[in-house]
Amino acid sequence: MPKPRKIIIDTDPGQDDAVAILLALASPELDVLGITAVAGNVPLSLTERNARVICELAGRRDVKIFAGCDAPLSRKLVTAEHVHGKTGLDGIQLPDPDMALSAGHGVDFLIDTLRSEPAGTVTLCPLGPLTNIATAFCKAPDIVAKVCEIVLMGGAYFEAGNITPAAEFNIFVDPEAAEIVFKSGVPLVVMPLDVTHKALTTRARVEAFRNLGTHAGAVVASWTDFFERFDVAKYGSEGAPLHDPCVIAYLLKPELFRGRHINVEIEKQSPLTLGMTVADWWGVTDRAANAMFMGDVDAEGFFALLTERIGRI
Ligand code: BDR
Ligand code: CA
Repeated sequence: MPKPRKIIIDTDPGQDDAVAILLALASPELDVLGITAVAGNVPLSLTERNARVICELAGRRDVKIFAGCDAPLSRKLVTAEHVHGKTGLDGIQLPDPDMALSAGHGVDFLIDTLRSEPAGTVTLCPLGPLTNIATAFCKAPDIVAKVCEIVLMGGAYFEAGNITPAAEFNIFVDPEAAEIVFKSGVPLVVMPLDVTHKALTTRARVEAFRNLGTHAGAVVASWTDFFERFDVAKYGSEGAPLHDPCVIAYLLKPELFRGRHINVEIEKQSPLTLGMTVADWWGVTDRAANAMFMGDVDAEGFFALLTERIGRI
């Protein structure tokens, strides 16, 4: 087997972040160098706690978890308890974590790791607002060229928005950070709502998690049961989008996804469309492409992969 791919997961767990982290930890193709928590779905004190809960659930107390930024670069934090519940991980009561946070700031971990690892060997996987990544790029511009790739969940084009009619949550919370990342020149793969809204937790898929007969399978089913209530009521869909695991699934099986290499710009001015990802899907400008913007997923293949890997925990 080739050497595992080194990744850092930057995250604001969130039930869907949690499933993404479990997927990564269950996959021998990936070497999780560390997890950096950021404020997003819930405040930082909860996202760093939730990251520890998730690693303990996976039996991985060895994973390094760092607390990162507690607020967007220049705006007040917007959170999403209306989707994820008060703790961010509502749905099932899990034990309080006893593994410790790693010492130091998440941003410094990103900087130190990218400086110490060979150039082009570390992939960043942001699953929340891009505050930590943008802060690291501004504080240590020398690391930008060392990143192999950024595979992130954020944005939307055909699906427009979820937190506002025009913007997806992760980009909306910190559009200034998103702009820094999208203009960084690092190869980007973007999983927007256009993809994640096709990765729905239907009854059969949730039952497949439950039928694994494992603790992790039951927990994943309880999480998805909880957070789907919001999207089911809103969209009338069967189940909720499982956003963030798309990022990790792409690293494992890129052939599950289809997209276009296009220009994507971030709206930062208009109050009406703040945080919109203006994606030139149809190639109507001559702006240079800066992102592989995904548009479709083989949802059956995605859930088959996810279920099989969760079954290993
Ligand atoms: C994104 O926002 C969060 O609520 C989810 O965890 C996901 O990262 C979807 O818009
Ligand atoms: Ca997230």
